[in-house]
Amino acid sequence: MKVLVTGGAGYIGSHVVRQLGQAGHDIVVFDNLSTGYRWAVTCGELVVGDLADETAIAELFSQHRFDAVLHFAANIVVPESVENPLKYYSNNTRNTLNLLKVIQQHQVPYMVFSSTAAVYGMPEETVLTEDLPLAPINPYGASKMMSERMIMDLAAASSLNYVILRYFNVAGANPDGLLGQATPEATHLIKVACECVTGKRDGMSVFGTDYDTRDGTCIRDYIHVEDLAKAHVMALDYMADGGESRVLNCGYGRGFTVREVIDVVKRKSGNDFPVQETRRRAGDPAALMADNSRIKKVLGWQPDYDDLDTIVGTALAWEKIWQGKQG
Ligand code: UFG
Repeated sequence: MKVLVTGGAGYIGSHVVRQLGQAGHDIVVFDNLSTGYRWAVTCGELVVGDLADETAIAELFSQHRFDAVLHFAANIVVPESVENPLKYYSNNTRNTLNLLKVIQQHQVPYMVFSSTAAVYGMPEETVLTEDLPLAPINPYGASKMMSERMIMDLAAASSLNYVILRYFNVAGANPDGLLGQATPEATHLIKVACECVTGKRDGMSVFGTDYDTRDGTCIRDYIHVEDLAKAHVMALDYMADGGESRVLNCGYGRGFTVREVIDVVKRKSGNDFPVQETRRRAGDPAALMADNSRIKKVLGWQPDYDDLDTIVGTALAWEKIWQGKQG
C-alpha cells in the first residue's frame, strides 16, 4: 500500500515506519521535525512540513494517491497541555481536522490514528475496556478524544475505515539499536530513569508513595514500542482484508509500580542513582492497565516483548547510543 505517515520521524512513528518498510509498503513521511529527526526516517521519503499548513497538505495529496494515512503527529506532554491548552487543540485537534479534510477530498480508504489511554481520565476501574465512557482530565486527553470523534463522524458519513489505537505507556526501543526515544525534555518514567544511568540527570523523583497500590506508587501498563508498531502494521492488513472500523487498546494487561520500574533500571544497569520521594503529580490515576482482549481477537495481535527487563534493557541500550550520538 502507499501510506502517508504523519509524525513518522518521531519516537513511535519511526518504529512503525521501519516495520512498514519491512512489510513492503511504499511510505511517505510528513513531519515538521519539531520533536522528530531526519535520521529516524529509515524507509521511504521524508517531506518536511506542518499539518497546520493546509496548502502544504493539499500539495502532498495532489502528488500522491494514498491508500492509507497513519496519523502520529501530535504533542504529547500532559503537564504542558494543562499550561498551554490551545497548543494541544491546535496541533492535535485542529491539525487532525486539516488532515481529515484532504482524506475526505481524496477519498483515502484507510486511517490508523494514535490515541491514548488519557481519553479515559481517572476511571474507577484499573483494567480498562474500550467501552468505558471517555472522561479525559487534561487538554491532551481531550484533544485526542475530539480527534477520535471527528474520525468516527467522517467515517460514518463516507467510505473511510479507521482503526483507532489507544496507547498505554509506550517504552523501550528497537532491539538493534537503530531507533529509540530521543525526545529532548522527556518526562516519561523509563526514559527519565535511563537518563539517570547515562548521567544526563543527577537523579529523579517518585511522584507519590501513598497510592492504594502494592507499594504505594502508581501502576502503569508499559508496552514495548516494537509490539505497538506491529499493531499498526496489523491494523492496515485488517482493514485491507475488509475489517470494519474499530477502537483498540494497546497494552499488555498487566502493570508495574514506579518503584518496580526504577528497581529494574538500577539492576539492569548496575547503576545506583539518587531517587527522591516527592508528593503526587496532579492528574495521575493510581493504576491503569489495558484490557487487551479486543486487539488480540480483532487483529490477532500477540506481544513479542511482554517483559519489563526487555523493555528496560532496550531503552537503556538506546539511551547510551543516543547520548553517544550527541557527543
Ligand atoms: N513518574 C515518576 N517520576 C518521573 C516520571 C514519572 O514518579 O520522573 C511516575 C508518574 O507519576 C506516573 C508513572 O511514573 O505515576 C508514569 O508516568 P509517565 O509520565 O511515564 O506516564 P503517564 O502514565 O503519566 O502517561 C503516559 C502518556 C500518556 C498516556 C498515559 C496512559 O504520557 O499520553 O501514559 O497510561 F495517556
